Amino acid sequence: MDTVGVGIIGAGGIAAAHAKAYQMLGAKAHLIGVVDIDEERARAFARRYEIPVWSGESDDLLKRDDIQVVSVCLPHHLHAPTTIAALQAGKHVLVEKPLAISLEEADAMIRAAQKAKRHLGVVFQLRFESDVQRARLILERGLIGAPFYAEVSCLWWRRPMYYENTWRGKWATEGGGAVINQATHHLDLLLYMLGMPSRVYAEIDTIAHRIEVEDWCLATLYWEGMKASFCASTCAELETDSSRMMILASNGSLQMFPFRPHSRQEERLLQIGEVCRTVPEQEIPGHTAEIHDFVFSVLERREPRVPATEGRRALELITAIYQSAFVGDVVELPLNPDSPCYTTAGKLEMARRFTANRAKRT
Ligand SMILES: NC(=O)c1ccc[n+]([C@@H]2O[C@H](COP(=O)([O-])OP(=O)(O)OC[C@H]3O[C@@H](n4cnc5c(N)ncnc54)[C@H](O)[C@@H]3O)[C@@H](O)[C@H]2O)c1
Repeated sequence: MDTVGVGIIGAGGIAAAHAKAYQMLGAKAHLIGVVDIDEERARAFARRYEIPVWSGESDDLLKRDDIQVVSVCLPHHLHAPTTIAALQAGKHVLVEKPLAISLEEADAMIRAAQKAKRHLGVVFQLRFESDVQRARLILERGLIGAPFYAEVSCLWWRRPMYYENTWRGKWATEGGGAVINQATHHLDLLLYMLGMPSRVYAEIDTIAHRIEVEDWCLATLYWEGMKASFCASTCAELETDSSRMMILASNGSLQMFPFRPHSRQEERLLQIGEVCRTVPEQEIPGHTAEIHDFVFSVLERREPRVPATEGRRALELITAIYQSAFVGDVVELPLNPDSPCYTTAGKLEMARRFTANRAKRT
């Protein structure tokens, strides 16, 4: 195979980034169809990106033999059922973050991909940024020594209108708030650089928005010999959204965004500079880079750079954060299928009780 036919399911906000990225691939990818439950939106999207087929029904794309790759750009609760249906129809699937709203769903998706022998990737476009690659190399090579403390924050503002979109702001459809939707990127980067913590303690609250889910979270994550402080918000009224990651280590530090590695030892600083120069400047946006990687992973029959197992890892940490906030106690990782928030039903029941108790207190 030297080209793929592509279908996009969900023609809302993020779908444009997918369409543009596939278009940039020229002869390697052809946009064949787009689906949205809002058929008029699908039609307008098809017209804008010169896509020959549009429909209000996913099956219309899934039954087509000329489509091999599907982008799932849907509300979070639809990621699992749609992805599984696409895999069962023999498609390779790139699903937007978060992989799913529960680990039960994530595991079913990964099993479906294995059974169908198809690729399943998840969008974590920040991993494709040059500075993220540089930071990872610096840590991997031990150039700043052993990390002992990290601070990660995603302090963003979302207007009330953002939550008027019916699937957002609800546990059953968004699967959570600032943590699962916005800070999923930051948590993924933390895992990408430092691996999975062994314990989590978290608190969540709904401060400014009239929504079920959290618009504020504060958590402490524990590794052997290391701790991180994490906060996420969609009600931070700063001049601009603020994303920050800082890692302190025995012989230096790393800060993102912007990227500023540092060591007081001149020799190390020189080595850091050398390692940074080995990573070329990124020429295309992260989303485009990841979508191109996914298409080439299909064409070259290799793993995509961000397979679904990475999405599961971020989701496991997110689930532990929610579970800790719901029970008001430390949660140990890894979680297992007996963990109260492993299933979608379990997580929703815990969220319901948490919300009811909070309502009683206020
Ligand atoms: N990677 C990123 O930085 C990034 C940024 C924004 C959004 N996202 C993710 O992209 C996904 C979609 O988010 P969005 O902001 O585009 O949402 P959106 O609400 O703008 O778009 C979702 C679209 O899905 C359609 N839809 C709903 N149910 C459907 C169904 N059953 N069948 C077909 N279409 C259906 C809606 O009509 C809508 O057009 C989410 O997972 C979100 O987290 C990722």
